Amino acid sequence: MCGIFGYVSSKKTSPRRVLAGLKRLEYRGYDSWGIATISNEKISVKKRVGKIGAASVGDLPEGYIAFGHTRWATHGGVTDINAHPHLDCKNEVAVIHNGIFENYESVKKDLIKNGHKFVSETDTEAISHTIEDQIKKTNFPEAVRKTFNKMEGLNAVIAICATDRSLIAARNGSPLIVGFGDGENFLASDAAALLPHTKKVYFLEDDEMAILTDKSVKVVDTKSGRLKKVKVQKITWNLADGEKGKFKHFMLKEIHEQPRVIADIIGSGTGPAQNLSKLIKSSKGSYLIGCGTASYAALAGTYLFSKIAKFHINSAIGSEFGYHLDFLNRKSLVIAVSQSGETMDILESVKKAKNKEAKIAALVNVLGSSLYRMSDYKTLIGAGPEKAVASTKALVGMLSHLILTAFALDGRVREGQITLNLALESTKNILTKKSIGHIKNLANKLKNKKHIYVIGRGLSYPASLEAALKIKEISYIHAEGLAAGELKHGPLALVEKGTPAIAYLPNDETYGANLAGAMEMKARGGYIIGVSFKPHEVFDYFIPVTDAREATIIPNIITAQLLAYYLTIEKGFDPDKPRNLAKSVTVK
Ligand code: M6R
Repeated sequence: MCGIFGYVSSKKTSPRRVLAGLKRLEYRGYDSWGIATISNEKISVKKRVGKIGAASVGDLPEGYIAFGHTRWATHGGVTDINAHPHLDCKNEVAVIHNGIFENYESVKKDLIKNGHKFVSETDTEAISHTIEDQIKKTNFPEAVRKTFNKMEGLNAVIAICATDRSLIAARNGSPLIVGFGDGENFLASDAAALLPHTKKVYFLEDDEMAILTDKSVKVVDTKSGRLKKVKVQKITWNLADGEKGKFKHFMLKEIHEQPRVIADIIGSGTGPAQNLSKLIKSSKGSYLIGCGTASYAALAGTYLFSKIAKFHINSAIGSEFGYHLDFLNRKSLVIAVSQSGETMDILESVKKAKNKEAKIAALVNVLGSSLYRMSDYKTLIGAGPEKAVASTKALVGMLSHLILTAFALDGRVREGQITLNLALESTKNILTKKSIGHIKNLANKLKNKKHIYVIGRGLSYPASLEAALKIKEISYIHAEGLAAGELKHGPLALVEKGTPAIAYLPNDETYGANLAGAMEMKARGGYIIGVSFKPHEVFDYFIPVTDAREATIIPNIITAQLLAYYLTIEKGFDPDKPRNLAKSVTVK
């Protein structure tokens, strides 16, 4: 969940480069940050609690090698001392780390017995001290490799040594990408951070260790130490894709990019949907899995497949999928849906499904991500880099692909494109100045509310779950998405005078029943926000959404993204970096 950026060069500029790289990665973790550099065979470190924001590293000496980290705390509170990098006793080794060193307690106990002094509460510091011990017996890269092999759990470790001109990085589970430059090489936890420098990359595999100098990159197997072949790949994203441009926040920029995402998916042809649908048809007992927002895409997939193609598919949340394994065999297909392709609960589920010989298909946004590489079949979402913690355009990409696949399953893929085109037009209508102003006005009315409920049926049920997640995740207002039919089974007890309830009322078979739910809430004093193709007297506030048939879920969700964004702005919070969260959830 942490941002990592490393740099080794023949020129002396490293700390500033690393700072700039970390700023591009802060969405991966932002409770504290730290940078280390080597100058005249001495390691200097600067680390601080808080967002990296306007930080400077002018007080760090320039060096040929430097690395840094933005933290999302696991072991040890959010303090300057617990921020990475962590040093050994002699200040000769510095380490940054992503993941959880599961057996660190016993390793730490032994190190303390042998005289090592610990200053932080982190698991990471045990890595620096272990390297310190190993280095007495062997060279620096070997010392890191031996240390890495002692670690249990899923980890990425990057180390530097005061007397060595290389940056060493080993991974098992957590993502690390090497970037190739001219007289300089880079390392990052996310390819988007490399875009200003290079598009030539190598995605480290599990159990690989990279040794980067200014002139070369070597990759070895962490278990055997044997040299491995490096196949350089090219990133297709552009630099501007990962910049805020004229927008105040990444989230707003990404919301506005959604028409482009839908148009690209329509324009990229029917091949991906046809291929995925053939695969689904040839399998028995298939699952769509995802976490958070991606899990709602997976759930929406079950409704889309059933409604459009009369085809049954199961869906499961990544962290729960382990409990469905009994149903998997070699005929099963697991479609893993993920923006980052690095979500640990998804990767773990996929590994377990593979052990059951199930086929794996990925619907994933990041080329070269762990999920991308683990999967037998891959569909790239094509949303471009998504940096705001709250997922927006990736979800719209996931839904667009699933809509096309559902139509392909029914042999009507062309109709799928036409339907998506309706969603594109409807989305453009929502993103007009007038419509955004109307949603902004609603945010102003709701900003002091403690609870917001969202109701829907059918495809609007996953839409309700997603709308509530967006609202709670960034505005910190408690929000709950409900299947409208469940109101009477309990939640209605919570409705009192002025309780806001968003009701999704698209032009489909759910309209009448969902309207009844809205009325039940209204009768108990609820403030009804109708999101619909037509006004109704029960609405206290009406958000018009033009009908896009089965794809209306897309513009419906976009209204909630905007509401969540403007609620957050009204409350003075940062929509890009909500508290306690990080973009990529690489721990269990
Ligand atoms: O990268 P993934 O799509 O696998 O991420 C899954 C969730 O962590 C993610 O969607 C999360 O729920 C978002 N913060 C929601 O906005």
